[in-house]
Formats: sequence, C-alpha cells, structure tokens
Amino acid sequence: MKMPVALLLLLALINAIRIDGEESKGLCDSKPSLHPRPHSVSISEFGAVGDGKTLNTLAFQNAIFYLKSFADKGGAQLYVPPGKWLTGSFNLTSHLTLFLEKGAVILGSQDPSHWDVVEPLPSYGRGIELPGSRYRSLINGYLLTDVVVTGDNGTIDGQGSVWWDWFKSHSLNYSRPHLIEFVSSEDVVVSNLTFLNAPAYNIHPVYCSNVLVENISVSAPPNSPETIGIVPDSSNNVCIEDSSIAIGYDAISLKSGWDEYGIAYDRPTTNIHIRRVHLQSSTGSAIAFGSEMSGGISNVHVEQVHICNSFSGIEFRTTKGRGGYIKGIIISGVELENIKMAFGAIGDRGSHPDDKFDPNALPVVEQITLKDVTGTNISIAGNFTGISESPFTSLCLLNVSLVTSASSSSWVCSHVIGFSESVTPEPCPELESSYSNSSSTCYSLFDSYGKSAAL
Ligand SMILES: *[C@@H]1O[C@H](CO)[C@@H](O)[C@H](O)[C@H]1NC(C)=O
Ligand SMILES: *[C@@H]1O[C@H](CO)[C@@H](O)[C@H](O)[C@H]1NC(C)=O
Ligand SMILES: *[C@@H]1O[C@H](CO)[C@@H](O)[C@H](O)[C@H]1NC(C)=O
Ligand SMILES: *[C@@H]1O[C@H](CO)[C@@H](O)[C@H](O)[C@H]1NC(C)=O
Ligand SMILES: *[C@@H]1O[C@H](CO)[C@@H](O)[C@H](O)[C@H]1NC(C)=O
Ligand SMILES: *[C@@H]1O[C@H](CO)[C@@H](O)[C@H](O)[C@H]1NC(C)=O
Ligand SMILES: *[C@@H]1O[C@H](CO)[C@@H](O)[C@H](O)[C@H]1NC(C)=O
Ligand SMILES: *[C@@H]1O[C@H](CO)[C@@H](O)[C@H](O)[C@H]1NC(C)=O
Ligand SMILES: *[C@@H]1O[C@H](CO)[C@@H](O)[C@H](O)[C@H]1NC(C)=O
Repeated sequence: MKMPVALLLLLALINAIRIDGEESKGLCDSKPSLHPRPHSVSISEFGAVGDGKTLNTLAFQNAIFYLKSFADKGGAQLYVPPGKWLTGSFNLTSHLTLFLEKGAVILGSQDPSHWDVVEPLPSYGRGIELPGSRYRSLINGYLLTDVVVTGDNGTIDGQGSVWWDWFKSHSLNYSRPHLIEFVSSEDVVVSNLTFLNAPAYNIHPVYCSNVLVENISVSAPPNSPETIGIVPDSSNNVCIEDSSIAIGYDAISLKSGWDEYGIAYDRPTTNIHIRRVHLQSSTGSAIAFGSEMSGGISNVHVEQVHICNSFSGIEFRTTKGRGGYIKGIIISGVELENIKMAFGAIGDRGSHPDDKFDPNALPVVEQITLKDVTGTNISIAGNFTGISESPFTSLCLLNVSLVTSASSSSWVCSHVIGFSESVTPEPCPELESSYSNSSSTCYSLFDSYGKSAAL
C-alpha cells in the first residue's frame, strides 16, 4: 500500500527538527516523496477548451467535484494538457494533484464577474486594500490536506494588467485576488511551475502547516503595483527553495495578521526555511517581514540568497498598534547587487485596518542575525529605526561587507541595540554594544532548532 503524501511529509518534518548545532538540518532538507496518484483525468474530458477564449470555470469545478470521490482511494490527478485554459476562480479538493503539462497555461479571466467575492480573512478584519470583502483567488484550497500543484513548467498567468490599472485608478470595488491561496490547509506542495502577472500575490498560504514551494519561477513587471511573490501568512513549517522571483513589490513577504484582528486571531508564522532563491523586487523588499505581523513571526532561517536590482534587500517592518513580535531570525549567505537599501528595520511602517487599533500594542523586534553578506552598488547600508517605547534589540551583523556609493549615508540607527563584527562600512555605535562576544549575544541556529525541538 502506498503511504499518503500527508504522512510522508509529516515524518519528514519531524525528522528535520534535530538539535545539531550550526550544522543542523533545516525543514527543507527532508522532502516529501510524491507518489503518482492512482487515478488521473484530463480537463478536456470535462468539456474544457484550450483556445484562450472559452471560459472553463465550470469544467474545472466539475472535474474537481468528480475527483473528490477518489480522496479515499489514494487521491487523483487533474491533468491540464498544452493549451490556453481561461478560467475564473475555482476550488481544489484534498488528495489532489493539479498537473500542468509543458505548454499548458491556466489564464485568469480579466472579467471581475468571473471571480467570486468572499469574506475577509479573520486575522485582517477587512480586505487588505479596501474595507470589506475581497475577491477569491484564482485557485483556492480551504480546509484541505495533501494537495499538490505542479507540472512540467506549465504556467499560471493571472493576466493582471487590468487589476493593476483598476488599483492605480482607485476603481476596484474589492481587494484584488491572488493566484493561489490555501486557507487552513496542510501538506501542500507547489512546484515546477511558472507564475506570471498575478493581480496581487502569487502564492498565499494562510493558517497552513507543512507547505513546500520548490523550483518555481515568478514574474510580474517592475511597475506592477504591490504585486508580491510568496506570502507565508500565519503558517508554520514552510519551506521555499530553488526558486526565482522578479516582481513589482516584495518577492517573499512573511506576515501574520493586522493589528487588533491579528492579535485576536493569534496565529504566528513560525518554522520557516528559505534557501537557494534569486530575488528581485523593484519597489519593495526581496525578503520582507511584516508590516502585518500581529500574530508574531519567529524561527525563520534564510540562506543562500541572491538579490539584485531591488529597492531593498531585507526589511523588517512594523508600527505601533501591531503588537506581536519578529524574533529568532537568522539570515546568512546573502549576495546583494544594485540595491538602494541593503537592510531595513523600521518601526513606523504600514497603515491600520481601522481606528479601533490599540496604539499601545507595541511590537517586539529582537534576536535577528544577519551574517556572511556581500553587496555591491548599495546606496544605504542599513536603516534601523526602532520604536522609542520598544527598541529593537539583539540585532547582530556578522561578516557583512557592502560596497556603498561614495555619497551614501551608510547606516542610520535609532532605538536599536545590537552587536556587529567584521562589518564594512563601519556600522553605527548602536550596533557596537560592548557585550562579551558575539556567540553569547547573537541569535544562532542552535537556539532556533533548540526551540523547535521543544515544540
Ligand atoms: C469554494 O469554496 C468556498 C469555501 O472556501 C465555498 O464557499 C464555495 O461555495 C466553493 N465554490 C464552489 C464552486 O464549490
Ligand atoms: C524544475 O522544474 C522544471 C520544469 O519546470 C524541470 O524540468 C526541472 O527538472 C525541475 N528541477 C528540479 C530540480 O526539480
Ligand atoms: C518555463 O516556462 C517559461 C515560460 O513559458 C520559460 O520562460 C522558461 O524558460 C521555462 N523554464 C524551463 C526550465 O523550461
Ligand atoms: C465596480 O462597481 C461598479 C458599480 O457596480 C461597476 O460599474 C464597476 O465596473 C466595478 N468595477 C470593477 C473594477 O469591477
Ligand atoms: C519537479 O520535477 C522534477 C523533474 O520532473 C521531478 O523530479 C521532481 O520530483 C518534481 N518536484 C516536485 C516537488 O514536484
Ligand atoms: C547601481 O544600482 C542602482 C539601483 O540601486 C542602479 O540604478 C544603477 O544602475 C546601478 N549601477 C551600476 C553601475 O550597476
Ligand atoms: C564571510 O562571508 C563570506 C561570504 O559572504 C564567506 O565566504 C566567508 O567564509 C565568511 N567568513 C567567515 C569567517 O565566516
Ligand atoms: C529611515 O527610516 C525612517 C523611519 O521610516 C525614515 O524616517 C528615514 O527617512 C529613513 N532614512 C533613510 C536614510 O532612509
Ligand atoms: C564567548 O562567550 C562564551 C559564553 O559566554 C564563552 O564560552 C566563550 O569562551 C567566549 N568566546 C570568546 C572568544 O571570548
């Protein structure tokens, strides 16, 4: 009998969490084994037409409804052959593989009436762009387990230009949709695909566990407004690896809810491993934490990252009223090229969902280590501007070498306490605290895996 993907993934994740010092293996080191599903049907068997014009929403819904009946028989695959398959939003089901053949393109409809409108997420209390409801994503999973969206480099193209124009001209009626969203789901894999022109986010796991995003390519034009690559949101055990993202705003953005709604929902983003990624974000940050982080963000390990032609490299964003925390973050092996601001930790970034937020809900930002970083053509090395009532603490910079443009201000620091060693250009005095030595003050992998082992 074949072991279900879910079980394999769970075993893999338990295996990955071991205390082994700096050499400790991360979440991504143990992959789930993906078995072929015993049943497969093609979308064309459900009347779909791949001419780029025929609307295939019903075909997708009917095919997936049919495949539901295989959930307890090892699951099933929905095969999408070469062609251009236009569709509005549809739902996935558990124990399903959606496979896009080489040359298969799922096209998002440019008619908003083909996209359902749904309630806002409870941890946000409203749509992120407009108060009230939001558009449902193109491909949705709700309360699912064991779902794989993959292919032989098939494409999911959101045809987002109309959404970007409506966003810019303030003519949207609801917050923009994403390409793929999983809500309250577990054992999810997204791999071997190309994502193009998302209306807003590309991949949004929210309230999820055990998510693997591997070997994908994401792109949207540099001027596409506030488009984001991958957004792990109030989710745990997420691995993102071997992928490249070139996008308008943030490439990877970790979030966990917005002000009073995120504090009440109280679900952190934790145990995240990101490695071997190439990132480019024209107006935002290649890797961003927040600004919506009210459920907390912790235990994040990022390694082997190449970031180029971006506004900012790595940024921690928060503001008063968020509550929550960003802590236990280690980022190493970063190459930066042509970046306006290499690092940022900013305590006055982001708006509020409404006027019911508590201005005394102060976020905590601590235990952040940035090490083994090189950078060329950087304008500002770092802007670390904490909150006077809640300074950012134990921020460590180790072995960081940035070539900044002559006219630049290098480091800007206030309300921050940290440590640095082997850092050029010379960091600000706030980061040269005279603690005994770095290993006793800097957050390290050992702490990170020590904590996850205790879970
Ligand atoms: C899709 O799932 C949502 C729940 O997330 C449900 O409200 C909706 O009716 C489903 N749509 C279809 C066509 O099954
Ligand atoms: C990445 O995906 C492409 C198709 O998109 C495939 O040809 C290639 O083998 C995959 N690489 C890995 C390491 O899985
Ligand atoms: C995948 O498809 C995209 C878009 O069709 C193409 O640009 C890219 O070269 C392909 N990648 C691979 C590895 O085949
Ligand atoms: C917003 O709603 C108005 C009134 O129903 C409608 O005319 C308009 O086309 C809608 N805009 C979008 C982008 O759907
Ligand atoms: C990606 O594609 C490669 C090549 O076909 C395959 O070996 C690998 O298992 C796929 N990875 C995932 C996670 O689907
Ligand atoms: C330096 O980076 C900036 C973007 O921050 C870019 O506009 C400029 O072309 C780069 N210069 C060189 C010489 O690559
Ligand atoms: C410093 O970082 C570079 C990569 O940026 C790495 O090659 C080198 O080994 C590191 N040095 C030490 C002492 O860890
Ligand atoms: C640093 O961030 C603070 C807070 O957002 C901002 O006021 C300041 O202008 C920034 N400085 C630079 C040099 O970017
Ligand atoms: C650094 O501190 C640790 C624990 O406080 C101590 O064991 C170690 O010897 C110190 N290393 C150096 C180089 O001072």
